[in-house]
Amino acid sequence: MQVDFYRHDLLPSAAASVAEVIATPFLTSGAVGRRVEAQLADYFGAKHALLVGSWTSGALATLLALDVGRGDEVIVPAMTFIATANMPELLGARAVFVDVDRDTLLTTPELIARTVTPRTKAVIPVHMYGQMLDVSALRAALADRPDIAIIEDCAHCFEGELAGQKPGAHSSAAIFSFYATKNVTCGEGGAIITNDTALYERIVQTRMHGMSAGAIDRFKHGGYRHWDMERLGVKANLPDLLAALLPAQISTIDERLPQREEIASRYERAFADLPLRLPRTLTNGKHARHLFTIHVPPRIRDEVLGVLGSRKIGCTVNYRSIPTLSYYRDNYNYDPYGFPVSQEWGEGTVTLPLYPSLERTAQDYVIDVIRTDVVPMVEAEMRASHAEAAR
Ligand SMILES: Cc1ncc(COP(=O)(O)O)c(C=O)c1O
Repeated sequence: MQVDFYRHDLLPSAAASVAEVIATPFLTSGAVGRRVEAQLADYFGAKHALLVGSWTSGALATLLALDVGRGDEVIVPAMTFIATANMPELLGARAVFVDVDRDTLLTTPELIARTVTPRTKAVIPVHMYGQMLDVSALRAALADRPDIAIIEDCAHCFEGELAGQKPGAHSSAAIFSFYATKNVTCGEGGAIITNDTALYERIVQTRMHGMSAGAIDRFKHGGYRHWDMERLGVKANLPDLLAALLPAQISTIDERLPQREEIASRYERAFADLPLRLPRTLTNGKHARHLFTIHVPPRIRDEVLGVLGSRKIGCTVNYRSIPTLSYYRDNYNYDPYGFPVSQEWGEGTVTLPLYPSLERTAQDYVIDVIRTDVVPMVEAEMRASHAEAAR
């Protein structure tokens, strides 16, 4: 049996939505995107939403709008996708890493607050795998530094909530990804939400080369309109061709979450008595169930990936600790043991298939391969390491 790592849930009607855009004169950002932005602002209860070409380009536009640059520090978890650290780094700021909690793999307000220096300009906490970090507690922990911007990395967390609150309520901005494997996807894309109108107006510019507001409409109304460039920006807009894939997914996303929850809970129940580690699920939150990860002893992780591959089960690694990757290790000389939880989890983690259309027979197959092929490997490794320790 072949089990894909991911399958999107786009409905056949998505093709009709794209065809409608093709029938218009301009394929780039326009009326469709504006409607999706209004839909997103409404979904999250945010004042403003902006569509962007990806999480990555949205983060770049946001950091540019916050004037993050040379000499600044931006705090990011060591355990995340590299984009979170790369965007401050690209602007000449320093990505300063913090470790994560051993049980939840979320970084904590305490760890972040301890890492703040006079140079800290922003912090990018990550709602890892779909669970929310407590952003209001983070804001409170940074109470003496209201100048520090909090930018939530919501690439995994569209549907997630903590204590009844969605992302964006306590931060400067929250950024989402609509990349090919995300719970809401248009292949490549993303969105920023913010309640800060001044920041929103700056991002409108940094999302479009820094052109003055309204540049997106410069071909409208017949006559050409001049624009000015008021600040440095990038091209981070999302074309309507892709935006057209989003409205139907956004309006039904909460209907699909119970299917993700059911599969994740089945995995959790099936693995509960096995010698595997799983991240702890928070009891006061709604988990977006973006990724389902298990942890096996680091020495056999790559072998486990090989076995799952040979059984035709799509799997991946989310993530290896960023300070252990060559670029950051070589440029900053990081101590590989400086972020022990991220390092240990990053060396042992394996992500299993999880998406609403994953059939029950495929779920059973994944569970069976873990029980019959992976667990004996884990047990043998545990026996070997106990024997080594006893010697
Ligand atoms: C935690 C995290 N942050 C940022 C990104 C970057 O998203 P994008 O591919 O939309 O730029 C990803 C993408 O996988 C991610 O998982």
